[in-house]
Amino acid sequence: MKIVNYPHPSLRYPAVPVTKIDARLKQFAREMRDLMFEHRGLGLAAPQVGIPFQLLVLNLSGDLEKKADDSALLETVFINPVILDRKGNIDDEEGCLSFPGLYQKVRRAKNVVVQAYNLNGEALEITASELPSRAWQHEIDHLHGVLYIDKMGPVGKLASRAVLKDFERDYHKAQEKGEIPPDEVILKELAALTATA
Ligand code: CO
Repeated sequence: MKIVNYPHPSLRYPAVPVTKIDARLKQFAREMRDLMFEHRGLGLAAPQVGIPFQLLVLNLSGDLEKKADDSALLETVFINPVILDRKGNIDDEEGCLSFPGLYQKVRRAKNVVVQAYNLNGEALEITASELPSRAWQHEIDHLHGVLYIDKMGPVGKLASRAVLKDFERDYHKAQEKGEIPPDEVILKELAALTATA
């Protein structure tokens, strides 16, 4: 498992709800958790590792010591999350593990109420504000193929153009070298995976 960078098609592919919490899903969650800590991210969504499932991991405590502790998975892994309510607005700088080095201001709701399931299949209702609220909104967007570059203001979009062009060039170069499969092959794999959620 590895993190895919923009413009990998998985980042635009709508994730399907998870219907069973089995050994494979738990393994995906563990590997995503490990990748998130390795890259010192606040969160990581399954489409960022090429899995079109409504699954994400968040490190809201910012505690990097929990890395290998599977008991912490219950507070780190969230399944089929939905935003029930949002209030207020706040502009702040945002980054994404699929766009290394690109930080721009993004407007988000200041407070959100989220419903999600943990790895035990228990329904949770979570109230978040400020940075955790931003992380929830960013990661849930990933599950719908929405990226923070879509939500930047006009100044941020303009300032990102050259960097995005570089990401696109690097991606197509990697495809030409055979390091990344052609998009049509990736899209077939994603479609096949959705049938197994
Ligand atoms: Co992201």
